[in-house]
Amino acid sequence: MFTNLFLKMLNREASSPSRGAKQIIESLRITQGQTIADIGSGGGYFTLEFARRVGDNGKVYAVDSNPKYLDFVRRQSKQAGLSNIEFVVARPSGVDLPPCSLDLIFARNVFHHLSEPVKYFRNLRNALKPEGRVAIIDHGPKQGFSFTSIFKHFTDVEKIIETMESTGFRLSESFDFLPGQSFNVFSYFDNR
Ligand SMILES: C[S@@+](CC[C@H](N)C(=O)[O-])C[C@H]1O[C@@H](n2cnc3c(N)ncnc32)[C@H](O)[C@@H]1O
Repeated sequence: MFTNLFLKMLNREASSPSRGAKQIIESLRITQGQTIADIGSGGGYFTLEFARRVGDNGKVYAVDSNPKYLDFVRRQSKQAGLSNIEFVVARPSGVDLPPCSLDLIFARNVFHHLSEPVKYFRNLRNALKPEGRVAIIDHGPKQGFSFTSIFKHFTDVEKIIETMESTGFRLSESFDFLPGQSFNVFSYFDNR
């Protein structure tokens, strides 16, 4: 009961125009047939939007460390008539997805939850196609009294870039249309 309410609240926030949902999706330039991993899929708002855009020849992995959250997204996807979503339970330190399978890894408001981000993205890197991209959105630090600052639900953008570079990724695009949040896209350049 509480889980459902919480996930509905996450979806309301994720889909809100003030949170730039439409612009985020447009920036990702998703095409039919692509394979996307939504890391920390939460209530699944982005999972379902991606599934509609990649179509029947594409696939979306909804990845979360909480199996109950994945059950919620599974129910939502059934109701929406979407059959191109797979559900994967993540460990705190990583997730196993098929090697060289992903065009895009998307992680919104999840980075600050990762206790070992270098290990996590090093592990995920193997699942990315050579030309694949990683899009990371997270809250930045806020001044004063707020949920985000009290519970430290944010990551300095420098920390995100440093982590990704130490994992072999390079920053390829940065967007600044999300108030209070960073939105960066990385590509992997090292030899495999
Ligand atoms: C703040 S919610 C964001 C949900 C969704 N991405 C959104 O933008 O609405 C963070 C999500 O990350 C998940 N999470 C936490 N640690 C994780 C991990 N190690 N791997 C995958 N998901 C994780 C949580 O269970 C939760 O669903």
